[in-house]
Amino acid sequence: MSTIFRLDSSIRTESSVSRAVADTLEASVIEAEGSDTTVIRRDVGLSPVPSDVWATSAFAGFTPEGDRTDEQLAAQAVAAELADEVVAADVLVIATSLYNFGVSQHLKTWIDTVITDPRFAPGTQTVKGKPAFLVLARGGGYGEGTPREGWDHATAYLRRILEDVWGLDLDVIETELTLAEVTPQMAELRDLARQQLAESHEAARTSGRSVTVKLRSAA
Ligand SMILES: Cc1cc2nc3c(=O)[nH]c(=O)nc-3n(C[C@H](O)[C@H](O)[C@H](O)COP(=O)(O)O)c2cc1C
Repeated sequence: MSTIFRLDSSIRTESSVSRAVADTLEASVIEAEGSDTTVIRRDVGLSPVPSDVWATSAFAGFTPEGDRTDEQLAAQAVAAELADEVVAADVLVIATSLYNFGVSQHLKTWIDTVITDPRFAPGTQTVKGKPAFLVLARGGGYGEGTPREGWDHATAYLRRILEDVWGLDLDVIETELTLAEVTPQMAELRDLARQQLAESHEAARTSGRSVTVKLRSAA
C-alpha cells in the first residue's frame, strides 16, 4: 500500500489548473498503485500555515530545550506535524502557481516551516530519492525568446529546494498561458494554451503510472 502526500497552494479552487493537473496525476498514481492508496492532503492555498510560525519555530531551534516558551513549543509542534506528513509519504505531489513572478507565499511559508524541523535541516536529506512531482501553473509564457524570459522566479527556487536541498527524485509538469482563456489580449494564444493544458494532463497520466516502477525499484 502506498501513501501520497498531496499539497495544494493555489489560492483558488474554481478553474485552478494546478489543482486539476495534480488531480489527474493523483488519480493516475492511485490507478497504478491500487485503491487502498492513502492520500495525505495539505492545502496551504485555502488554509495557510500562519506566517509567524516559521520564525518562532526557527528561534526555538536556537533556544535550549528547557528554556523554550509555550509559543515556541507550539510552533515546533506545527513544524513536526508538517514534516511528519512528508516523511510518511512514498510519493509527493506539490501543486502551485506563479504569483507576481515568484513563488506562492503560502508554499514558501510551508517550506520554511518544514525546514525548521530537525529532519529537514539543511544537509539531512531525510526524504532523499523519494519520487516527487512539482505541478506548476503560470498565467503567462516565459519560454526562450519570449519577452518575459527569465521573469519566472519560482520554478528554479522550487527545484533548488525539492531536488537539491531535499534530494527528491523530482519531475516537473508545467502549464503556461493559463490566463489566455480569460484575457482578450491573449486570445491568439488560446489554441496553444489548450494544447499545453492537454499535454500537461497527458504528462500527469504518464507520470502517475511511472511511479509504480520507481517505487518497486526503490523497495
Ligand atoms: C494574485 C495573482 C498574481 C499572479 N501573478 C502572475 C504572474 O506574475 N505571472 C503569471 O504568469 N501569472 C500570474 N498569475 C496567474 C496565475 O499564475 C495563473 O492563473 C495560474 O493558472 C494560477 O494557478 P491555478 O490555475 O492553479 O490557480 C497570477 C494570478 C494571481 C491570482
